Amino acid sequence: MKEIPQHNLGLDLVRVTEAAALASARWMGRGEKEKGDKAAVDAMRISFESVDIRGVVVIGEGEKDRAPMLFNGEQVGTGKGPEMDVAVDPVEGTRLLAYGRPNAISVVSLAPRGTMYDPGPAFYMKKLVAPPEAKGKLDMNAPVAQNLERAAKALGKDVDDLVVFVLDKPRHQGLIREIRESGARIQLHTDGDVAGALMAVTPGTGVDLMMGTGGTPEGVLAATAIRVVGGEMLGMLDPQSDREKEAVLAAGYQLDQVLSTEELVSSDDVFFAATGISGGAFLNGVEFTGKGARTSSMVMRGRTGTVRLIEAHHTFEKLMRISAIRYD
Ligand code: FBP
Repeated sequence: MKEIPQHNLGLDLVRVTEAAALASARWMGRGEKEKGDKAAVDAMRISFESVDIRGVVVIGEGEKDRAPMLFNGEQVGTGKGPEMDVAVDPVEGTRLLAYGRPNAISVVSLAPRGTMYDPGPAFYMKKLVAPPEAKGKLDMNAPVAQNLERAAKALGKDVDDLVVFVLDKPRHQGLIREIRESGARIQLHTDGDVAGALMAVTPGTGVDLMMGTGGTPEGVLAATAIRVVGGEMLGMLDPQSDREKEAVLAAGYQLDQVLSTEELVSSDDVFFAATGISGGAFLNGVEFTGKGARTSSMVMRGRTGTVRLIEAHHTFEKLMRISAIRYD
């Protein structure tokens, strides 16, 4: 049955990520990871008070590194409207922000209650992200070279045309060697694999694939966006310490299970918003103009597949007359 256009919660969400980006961007390059994160968390929490959802944070952030967090189980929204799972990362890439490196972004996503994967005590997940053309063609358990060959074929490229986004971590030495041996090229980034995943599914960013292990919460967040644009994220829990492994196994998770995008987020009725903080290949950072600021954001709605790029101009004098958030 056809329906009249529904309210796009993504357009409310983008005000939440804009507020977090504006507040945290003041900390760019100042070497204060926690302060930048806290500024974003505080702004995000206040902004959520205007969003008409009965939201529960199921993908919060911070337990891994004791950051100031919007904690799991915290209720957000006005308490009116649909019941939603909420995934937040007020600053995705806190070190990127603290050191003024590219790709720090503020990210939020929503999905109907009970449809986001619960990572439990799993902090780390191995990820393989590819654009829509390669969906269904890659295998998490196959050798790296084989996946690169299949991806290249699906994209109509040669393997040495490919660029793979990889986090520059000691755990990826073997992965990096295998990618290099296959002939593909690599973009190494210190942090920020939500941006990496988004780049892999967005044409024109210079990245074709993302491979390697990063945060599990970041994996679920990125999977929401990937559901909208139709790419693929495969995930496999990949604990990085004996303690994490024991906790994950004790909680009943299986380490050899390959999670599809649809298992990471099991509904199409999702909303996603991201705002650039430090600027990067696909979102500009916050630019302060003296009297205000410019922000660049991306808003997605799953049911329609609409992706909006929104440039907003903020005027601090007016905002400060009404807003509980400090913008100046
Ligand atoms: P934070 O924003 O929490 O600092 O996360 C940044 C990040 O690089 C993520 O993009 C990535 O998923 C995760 O950290 C990787 O974790 P680690 O740095 O512990 O290897």
